[in-house]
This record gives sequence, structure tokens and C-alpha cells, in this order.
Amino acid sequence: MQQDLVPVIIFSKLPACFSINHSSRRQLVNTSFKSTTMKTLDKKVAIVTGAGSGIGQAIAELFASEGARVVVSDIDATHGESVVAAIKAKGGEAIFVKADTSMPGDSKALVEQTVKAFGGLHIAVNNAGIGGPQALTGEYPIDGWDKVIGINLSGVFYGMRYQLPAILTSGGGNVVNMASILGKVGTKFSAAYAAAKHGVIGLTEAAALEYADKNIRVNSIGPGYITTPLLTKNLNEAQMKALVGLHPMGRLGKSEEVAELALWLASDKASFVTGSYYNVDGGYLAQ
Ligand SMILES: NC(=O)c1ccc[n+]([C@@H]2O[C@H](COP(=O)([O-])OP(=O)(O)OC[C@H]3O[C@@H](n4cnc5c(N)ncnc54)[C@H](O)[C@@H]3O)[C@@H](O)[C@H]2O)c1
Repeated sequence: MQQDLVPVIIFSKLPACFSINHSSRRQLVNTSFKSTTMKTLDKKVAIVTGAGSGIGQAIAELFASEGARVVVSDIDATHGESVVAAIKAKGGEAIFVKADTSMPGDSKALVEQTVKAFGGLHIAVNNAGIGGPQALTGEYPIDGWDKVIGINLSGVFYGMRYQLPAILTSGGGNVVNMASILGKVGTKFSAAYAAAKHGVIGLTEAAALEYADKNIRVNSIGPGYITTPLLTKNLNEAQMKALVGLHPMGRLGKSEEVAELALWLASDKASFVTGSYYNVDGGYLAQ
């Protein structure tokens, strides 16, 4: 039995990682910024992959609203261009660059086009990802494994492979990699996704150590189940309800709630944070 569905979690019993109350923090930021023209990411250049939809779109829009010049990148040009249009309509600055994260050449070209357009690179959010097939590990389709690992894990490496030198040249900055609660715990029928997301956390830690004394921070985020097309396109109402029940808060997350964590990590407010994994999961990993 194998379907092209998102990973379905059965149980998680591992201890929670660190957590912070981002929504209340954001209120503070909003309040204090109201009286000034300063914005959290003023003058920063940021790449967001998979920014044509869901979590990536929310991150791109939030970063732009906080003053960043955003490179919206995706394999889907139609959605990517519409995100750019929405950012520009609100007075933000953004361009679209089509790139497939599983292709090293695309990742290289993405960084080159970013530097050409905006003169440097300070922030990269490696967010693009897919759910992949669902099957027993002993029956898992090899091409499905290769595709998920190619986009969700190798894609993050290819991204950083070209982003880190550019960030270094720009005087420093940071990288935020999109992992998952499934980067900390396993789930049935999703070997490739769980392996890729665990890999993203390890990759993040390795890079963070290498660049800790070079003014580049590298962190990862682990969302619980978030209402995005990744879920809504693949799951029926009953399956969505079942996922809700797995979260102590009794609901799924919103892309904007993940974007708030990405903003904090990408900002100078997180200046002593590197090599960290933060979950934003409605209490999922605390069970
Ligand atoms: N939605 C969730 O419940 C959830 C939970 C944990 C982690 N995540 C992770 O968050 C990230 C974003 O997921 P989402 O829910 O917003 O999904 P989504 O499907 O809404 O958006 C993903 C975007 O990535 C793009 N994309 C796919 N393959 C690509 C490739 N090879 N190169 C470039 N772009 C590509 C898609 O076109 C799409 O615009 C993924 O890494 C996902 O694994 C999502």
C-alpha cells in the first residue's frame, strides 16, 4: 500500500526541545516598532525557498513587511510571481527566481541572481519540501526515496553550499532550515521524510559549528502539522481531524505562526542562537 500522502504521525514520546512564546514576543515587537520607522530586517537580503505556498509564502511576506529585500524562490513560477506581486502591492521589495532545490546548479544560480539583484545575501531560509510517498520501509519506492531526500535534505545542503560563501562575503548573517517534528521523532510509512528531516537537523548543527566564529548563525525549525496545501491537497477531512487530535493545543498550526519563529531566528534578536532546533508544534513534542 502506498499513497502520495504527507507523513502521518502515530505517537511521539520524546522530550520537547526548547520553546519560546513567539506570539507574545511579536506583540512586543509590533508595539515598540510602531513609534519608530525601524524594522526588524531593514536592509537585509533574504532568500526563501518554496516561497510560492504555505509556510514559505508566510515567511517571505513577513520578512518583506519587516524591511527585507526578499528573493521568492520556487519551482512553481505562477505562485512565486503572485507572492512577489502581493509583497510589492504592500510596498515591499521582492523578486522571483525559479529554482529546484534538488538541483545544485539551480541553487548556485539562485545565489548568483540574488547577489546580482540586491548586491549581497544575509539570510537564507531553506524551506522547500515535499511529503513524498507513504509506504512500509520494506516496500518504499526507490524513486520516491530519492526524490524526498533530493528535495528535503540534499536541497538544504545544496542551498547552504552556495549561500554560506555569499553570506560570508556580505559580512555575515544567518540560515534557517525547515525541519519538522519528524526531524526529532519517527512516524510510520514515511521513512524518507523522517530521514530527511532528521538529516536537516544534523546538517544544521554541523554548519553552525563551522560558521559560529564567522558571524553566521545556522538554526532549524520543526513545525507540527500546519494547515498548508501540503496537507489540504493530500488529506481528507477525517484525516485532517485525526491530525488535530495529535496536538495538545487541539488545533493545527498556521503558516504565520511558523513565520514568526523564522523571523525571530533570522533577526539580530537571536544573536546568540546557533545550532539550535526550535519546534513550533502546539505542544506535540512535549508529549
Ligand atoms: N505543513 C506542515 O504540516 C509541515 C510540517 C512540518 C514541516 N513542514 C515543512 O515546511 C516546508 C514547507 O511546507 P508547506 O507545508 O508550506 O508546503 P507547501 O506544499 O504549501 O509549499 C511547499 C512549496 O515548495 C515548493 N517546492 C516543492 N518542491 C520544490 C523544489 N524541488 N524546489 C523548490 N521549491 C519546491 C512547492 O512548489 C511549494 O510552493 C517543507 O519543508 C515541509 O516539509 C511542513
